[in-house]
Amino acid sequence: MERYSLIEHLVRGEGARYNLGGSLVPPLSIEELGLRLSDISTDYGAVHGRSDLRGEFASRFGVDPDQVIITEGAHEANNVSFLECVNGGRVLVETPIFEPLRNIPEAFGGEVVQVPRSDMVDAIENDEFEMVVVCHPNNPSGDTTDISDIHRAAVGSGAVMLIDEIYRPFAGLPTNVNAVGERTIVTCSLSKIGGMGGARIGWLVSTPDLAPGLRRTKENISPTNNSFGEAAAMAFLADHDRFIEKAKRIVAEGESLLVDMLPSFDIARTGMPFSYLRYGEGPPSIDVADRLLDEYGILLFAAEHFGDTMAFRISTGYHDAEAYGALADALDAIGVRP
Ligand SMILES: Cc1ncc(COP(=O)(O)O)c(C=O)c1O
Repeated sequence: MERYSLIEHLVRGEGARYNLGGSLVPPLSIEELGLRLSDISTDYGAVHGRSDLRGEFASRFGVDPDQVIITEGAHEANNVSFLECVNGGRVLVETPIFEPLRNIPEAFGGEVVQVPRSDMVDAIENDEFEMVVVCHPNNPSGDTTDISDIHRAAVGSGAVMLIDEIYRPFAGLPTNVNAVGERTIVTCSLSKIGGMGGARIGWLVSTPDLAPGLRRTKENISPTNNSFGEAAAMAFLADHDRFIEKAKRIVAEGESLLVDMLPSFDIARTGMPFSYLRYGEGPPSIDVADRLLDEYGILLFAAEHFGDTMAFRISTGYHDAEAYGALADALDAIGVRP
């Protein structure tokens, strides 16, 4: 398997002086979560996830616990979905999008077709797809435009609709799992909203028609879960509203700081733990991102990693006036203009 370009840049940027690459808030500490050592087991977890945790999610989402599978982050939730549903078929994926959401279905034998979100209904009406994939809210753009027409068209055509909802808690939107009633999978995790990427705790919720197959795939490739992450998730859910408010406050501060420090650029306030800065004049963003890292010690992600160009994704969840100041000066020196 090839190394994906986003991971390549991430690895190259490890230890960078200014890390503006993240799409999450700083982690909740064990103390803030109120986790006690006695809550944590090092034993194998249950195959589809701890039953009280699945029950919590089921009641929050208005589904049966059998429709909920706990996974090692949203990555595993997406991978299980692709492994079960691609079936060597065509997969329609919105662009721009988080790179693994287009590369993994291809690696699992699918033929990936990419179009902007606004063209997806037309694409579904004019072609046959095994799966349709949307990231809502979108990474990298933060786009939260309504996807119900795409969802209805996809399911109506017989495709499986996969919606990566990892940034939904920042937007305060309801889950899409029940919006159509069949052939739907939503995936999410606590990696972004709780900054808990290292706890590897995510979930996949599907409509009842897909649940048995997804459960079988999950149990075949990874028949247990991270029991520490499950305990951390239970602690998060016990004070869910307060932790989400905290994350949103951090992001709002980051957005304001970024807008103040790069006043000539038009930066949309999306409430996401990253901003998407588009520009009109200057070298392609992939080249600028390399120069930012090599010459100025600044890590961020270029639009090209997401299938776009002339834009950068800049962290607002981790924000720092010195880093934003360094970025403003570097962009000016490289000739990036609005
Ligand atoms: C859209 C999207 N999906 C999935 C993931 C992976 O999340 P996790 O760390 O929970 O596996 C990310 C992380 O950047 C993401 O942006």
